[in-house]
Amino acid sequence: MNIAVIGTGYVGLVTGTCFAETGINVTCVDIDKKKVDMLRNGEVPIYEPGLDALLERNIDKGRISFTTSLQKAIKDCDAVFIAVGTPPDEDGSADLKYVLGVAREIGQHMEDYKVIITKSTVPVGTSFKVKAAVEEELVSRGVRIPFDVASNPEFLKEGSAVDDFLKPDRIVVGIESKRAEKVMNRLYKPFLMNGHPLLFMDIFSSEMTKYAANSMLATKISFMNDIANLCELVGANVDLVRKGIGSDTRIGNKFIYPGTGYGGSCFPKDVQALVRTADEYGHSLEVLKAVEAVNYRQKTTLVEKIKKHFGENLKGKQFGMWGLAFKPKTDDMREAPSLVIIEQLKAMGANIRAYDPVAMEEAERILGNSIEYAKDEYDVAIDADALIVVTEWSEFRMPNFRILQKLMNEQTIFDGRNVYDPEEMEEIGFNYYSIGRAAIKAEESVEV
Ligand code: UDX
Repeated sequence: MNIAVIGTGYVGLVTGTCFAETGINVTCVDIDKKKVDMLRNGEVPIYEPGLDALLERNIDKGRISFTTSLQKAIKDCDAVFIAVGTPPDEDGSADLKYVLGVAREIGQHMEDYKVIITKSTVPVGTSFKVKAAVEEELVSRGVRIPFDVASNPEFLKEGSAVDDFLKPDRIVVGIESKRAEKVMNRLYKPFLMNGHPLLFMDIFSSEMTKYAANSMLATKISFMNDIANLCELVGANVDLVRKGIGSDTRIGNKFIYPGTGYGGSCFPKDVQALVRTADEYGHSLEVLKAVEAVNYRQKTTLVEKIKKHFGENLKGKQFGMWGLAFKPKTDDMREAPSLVIIEQLKAMGANIRAYDPVAMEEAERILGNSIEYAKDEYDVAIDADALIVVTEWSEFRMPNFRILQKLMNEQTIFDGRNVYDPEEMEEIGFNYYSIGRAAIKAEESVEV
C-alpha cells in the first residue's frame, strides 16, 4: 500500500514513520524545503524519544521519503493523511486555512480514488469542509473522480508518541462508506496485535471523540487539583485520597495526580475549542468552563505558597527552578505552568535560575534573558532562597539533599508535583511545601 502524509510536524512525522514501520510505502510532504532536506538525512526536528532511530531505519529500508511536492506524493497512493497545523485564529478558534488549502490541492491533482483522512485536531464538522473543498476543485477541473473523506483523531502523548502509535489503546476512525472502511482496516490491521479495538463510527462522532477524550482527562486533573487544595485546608493528605479513590475501578488510578495544572499543546486548546463549539450551538458546557478556570488558578498555586512564605516583595530573592517543559520527556513549553510561575515571581522582583534536562534551548527562545540558565540541577541551587520543582523529570527524583542544603541560602522547597516524601523532608530539615499535603516547617523538624 502507498500513503501520503501531508505535514511533517509532530503528528505527521510520527504517523508517517510508524506506518512505514509496518511495511507501507509512505511519502511525507512539507512546504518547508529546509525541513524536508533535514528529514531526508534522518534528522528529526522535534524531541520525541525513539523517533529518530525508527525514522533512520525506515529511510534506510526505502519505505519513507520526503518531498515538497504534494502532486507527486499523492500520485499512486490509496490514502492521504492531512496532518498540517491548525494554529489558533485571532479569536482562539482553530484556523483551518492550512487543512482546507491542502484539501484543495489534493482536489487539483488527484487522478484516482483516495481516502482523504483528517488527522489534525479539528472542530467537529471539518471533514465535511474538506470534502466540499476537494469536490469544488474536481468540479472546476471538470472531472469526476470518486473519493471518501475520513476522520482519524490521534491520541498520542508527547514523550511516548511512538509507543502510543505502535500500541494504541484504540484507534478511532470516522467513515462514510464501506470502501473507505476497507482501506482504513488494511492500514491499521498491523497495530491491532495487542487486541485493542479499531472503532469505526460516523464522522461527527469520531471528531467529537477526540475532544471528549481530552476534555475528560483535563476534567480528572482539574478535579483532583481542586480536591488537593481542599485536602490542605481540612488537613487531609491527597496522596492517600488519590489511592483511596483510584482503587475503585470505575474511577481508575491514572490521570488523578494533582500538580501545578495541565499544559501542552492539546488539553488547553481542546477544552477551549469544545466550550466554544458548544456555545455556538447554544449549549453551555459548565463543567468544562470550570475545568479551565481551576486549571488557570492551579498554575499559580505555588506562587501563592511562595507569597505566604516570603511575603509579596521578592526583591533580592533567588529562586532555583527544576523543570521548564510542561511535562517530562519533552522540550515543549506551550502553556507550561513554569511560564506563569516565572512571570508572577519576576513581577514581584525575584531572580530565577532554572534547569531543564531538554527544554533549555526552547526556554531561551521564549524567555530570553529574563531568567538565568543553570548548567545542571545543582548549579540551580547556588545561593537560592528556595527551590521550586515544576516538572517531575526522573533525574529530580533522588537528588543529594545534603549537597542542595550546602549550596542553598535557605532550605526551602516548593514541590509542584509531589515528588518527595514529606516525612523524609522533615527528617532532612527542609521547609517543604507540596500539593494537597501539609506543609513541613524546618524549625519543627529534628535534624538527623
Ligand atoms: C494529551 C493526551 O494525553 C493525548 O491523548 C492527546 O493526543 C494530546 O494531549 P500530552 O499533551 O502529550 O497528551 O500530555 P499528557 O501526558 O496527557 O499530560 C497533559 C498534562 O496533564 C501535563 O501538563 C501533565 O503534567 C498533566 N497531568 C497529567 C497532571 O497534572 N496530572 C495527571 O495525573 C496527568
